[in-house]
Amino acid sequence: MNATPRTVLVTGAARGIGAGIAEVLASRGFTIVIADVNAEQAAETADRLGDGHTGIALNVSDRAAVDRAIDEIAEREGGLYGVVNNAGINRDAMLHKMTDEQWHQVLDVDLSGVFYVSRAAARRFRDAGRGRIVNISSASWEGNIGQANYAAAKAGVLGLTFTLAKELARSQVTANAICPGYIETDMTRALPEQIHEAQMAKIPLGRIGTPQDVGGAVAYFLGDDASYITGQVLEVGGGYQI
Ligand code: NAI
Repeated sequence: MNATPRTVLVTGAARGIGAGIAEVLASRGFTIVIADVNAEQAAETADRLGDGHTGIALNVSDRAAVDRAIDEIAEREGGLYGVVNNAGINRDAMLHKMTDEQWHQVLDVDLSGVFYVSRAAARRFRDAGRGRIVNISSASWEGNIGQANYAAAKAGVLGLTFTLAKELARSQVTANAICPGYIETDMTRALPEQIHEAQMAKIPLGRIGTPQDVGGAVAYFLGDDASYITGQVLEVGGGYQI
């Protein structure tokens, strides 16, 4: 790790996968800014990480707020090393029952939010001549029953990632994506036993993933070993896609 602080913004990291990512990155020496709509929980999670880490209130689907937050973080921390676009929601429904509101809510957060944060960060990264973007997509990007909105957003995140990688390469900025499989969070803990068993049966490694498993992959993309890797998608799912 360099002596220069490496500040990384992790969106939606007050709990769940984002909190696991923040925990792993903090343990590897990164300085973490947790940005979440749940300001109180963001501050609590940042406190648990230790001194120097902070939590801020941010709705990633609010373009102006995102621009302001990135500016403030970069000024306060003396630069921005990377962003992890993890914030995401789901509003599942079968297509014929899906409301416009369910569609737009998910697209606004899961796709437009990634665009807003990446665009604001890219302006900084281009000036600095370095930067790392890691986007959290999902195994559902290939399509999933009841998730037309979520799958479209998560597939969009991959197209966005490839484009960022191509556009920003000349500035030595990398952009990669991670597709988590079945990960233990509040969301998956709430699933009926039958669905849990069906998901588990698809995992060759035979266990549910942890937020820290995803964090390890994020740390790799942010680390020195990945400086020559861009435009890649890494599945973190115990081999479910084999
Ligand atoms: P979660 O619901 O436990 O946590 C999501 C966090 O994002 C919460 O802290 C929430 O307050 C925050 N958030 C929601 N909307 C926001 C907004 N507009 N702006 C800022 N923060 C916002 O979800 P989980 O399971 O930790 O998921 C994290 C990411 O991983 C999401 O992008 C999700 O789609 C993805 N994912 C999750 C999988 C799983 O098995 N849990 C599998 C594949 C992908």
